[in-house]
Parts: sequence; structure tokens; C-alpha cells
Amino acid sequence: MAETILEIMKKDHLHLHELMDGIEKESIKGVANLEDSFDNFKFEVENHMLIEEKAIFSYLEEDSEAGRISINRLLEDHELLRELINELELELQNSSEVDLSNLKDAWDAHENFEENSFYDRLDEELDTGKKQEIIERIKEFR
Ligand SMILES: [Fe+2]
Ligand SMILES: [Fe+2]
Repeated sequence: MAETILEIMKKDHLHLHELMDGIEKESIKGVANLEDSFDNFKFEVENHMLIEEKAIFSYLEEDSEAGRISINRLLEDHELLRELINELELELQNSSEVDLSNLKDAWDAHENFEENSFYDRLDEELDTGKKQEIIERIKEFR
């Protein structure tokens, strides 16, 4: 079976969860280099969202009204996630602890929508050629 967009993005989501879990564990232990782990997470999550925006959303935008509505919601989510991440980054400058619960809640809702109402539908609705083109674009951005 050919690779699906959902599978590729799910792998990324899993990786980002591991990074968030790692930060939480380090925060509980009081690890000194929490900022390094957080910087790394911020870099990876920004990279993931940029790939989605540049390789997928912008490519689909003109396709359909329904697509545009979903994409607007996803872009709003990304802005909220960026704000939450920036706030946490500021907090970390004055503290060696961090509480990711708000970020994780927002992330989980976003991820749930992407995996269960967006990428799964893309895989079903796009023809093989267009799907392959998007997968190529995702790989180019890595
Ligand atoms: Fe996203
Ligand atoms: Fe995503």
C-alpha cells in the first residue's frame, strides 16, 4: 500500500508528543537545561506547522469552499499554538518549571481535527496524482 498523508503527519504528531512528554518529565525532575529541550520542541513544532501550511494548506486552498473552511480553522489553531508556545518560552526565562497543560489541550484538539476530519478525508478524496504531489512537497520541505 502506498503511503498516505495521514500516516506521514501522524508520525510527526507522535514525535511532537514525545518531545512534550520529555519536557514535562524534565520539568518535574528540575532539569537545568529545560530551555534547550523547549527550544528544540519549538523548532520542530514550527517546522511541522510550516510544512502543513506551505506544502498542504496553500496547495489546497483554491480547491473548494469546504476545504477553505477547514483550512481557516487549522490556520487559526496554528496561530493559537504559536501564541501559547511563545508565552511558555517567556515563562521559562524566569522559571525552571513549565506547565504544558494548556498547550497540550490545544494541541490535542488540533491534532484530533487534523487526523480525524482533515487528513483522512484528503486521503480519500484526492486522486492518486494529486496526493503524490502533496507527499512530494512535504518531503521537499524536510
Ligand atoms: Fe497543524
Ligand atoms: Fe499537524
